[in-house]
Amino acid sequence: MSLWKWEKGREMTNHVLRANQFDKEFLAYLYDLTNKIRGFGKTKSGIDYLQGLLSHKQAMLYFTQPSTRTFLSFQAACHMLGIRPNEIRDRDTSSELKGESVEDSVRTFSSYVDLIIMRSEHPELCYSSAEMLDQTRRPVSIINAGSVGVDGIPDEHPTQALLDIYTIQKSFGGAESPSGKSIGFVGDLKRGRTIRSLAILLSQYRDVKFYFCAPKGLQIKDDLKELLDARKEENNLEISIVDNLNEILPKVDVLYMTRCQMEYGEVHYKQKDFSLDKECLELMKKDSIIMHPLPRTGELAPEVDTDPRAMYWRQERNGMWVRTALIADLMGAASLIGQPPES
Ligand code: NCD
Repeated sequence: MSLWKWEKGREMTNHVLRANQFDKEFLAYLYDLTNKIRGFGKTKSGIDYLQGLLSHKQAMLYFTQPSTRTFLSFQAACHMLGIRPNEIRDRDTSSELKGESVEDSVRTFSSYVDLIIMRSEHPELCYSSAEMLDQTRRPVSIINAGSVGVDGIPDEHPTQALLDIYTIQKSFGGAESPSGKSIGFVGDLKRGRTIRSLAILLSQYRDVKFYFCAPKGLQIKDDLKELLDARKEENNLEISIVDNLNEILPKVDVLYMTRCQMEYGEVHYKQKDFSLDKECLELMKKDSIIMHPLPRTGELAPEVDTDPRAMYWRQERNGMWVRTALIADLMGAASLIGQPPES
């Protein structure tokens, strides 16, 4: 089963571009595949098997915006499946410096690889690249690993949303979650692309309560609010726009902390008001979880790390497994992944 579709039901070749292209049915399938892959990952013979699956494929990691986790986890996911990825992390070392257009650069990658994983500062480059490559004789797959919108503001990070929902499901044990959960998003919600993609995916579930807690000027953008409002009635969603962290702490099952995205412009606010420390933990439910896409820059005190509710390090590793499953499916290897070998 592969449910790759993008925008208005129009079938596209295999691309991962927006959170909205996935439905709950696909997520259930993907997480089942992720769990199987984790089983394979437990033994040498399992890993050897996985590494034979896509050893005939090539991938490009085109990351001209900074990245640690997303880059490394995609790289590790490629290695897990036997793909040895190429990488460009700096436009200054590519022909873009000589004046080549970014579109020509992407077309050039497609001559050598079967998959392009992309995080670029060029507005909507992943979408235009997917359209462009679909018109060519090598319509290789694009994965959006963090995009910027036409307004220059961060746009989507769909694979982060996939690993975030996986982490929520694992934490609460059950394919039904995040249905019925209260989720607090805290920080720079205007420019955090992780929260945009995650909120879009979450809005497919029923009875979800959203608390968006941000300083003035950094609240969610209107387009996201409109999208959530449009699903409000159908899925019985509740959406609250707030600015007091202490008020939401006792209410949430999932607290999703984020940093201020300073690279898109300085914004001054009292960071302490949107930060989590040991004292705040006292206010939270005992069975809640704390997530963060990382990196953190002061809004999440290291003293929180030892609390059993802290899920962000596990969230990182989950990302590697979910991305391995995603690539396996995208590249047609999922049907070769059955029950893991005995350890
Ligand atoms: C990134 C961050 O916040 O820098 N984090 C992540 O990918 N886990 C997300 C981003 O670049 O927007």
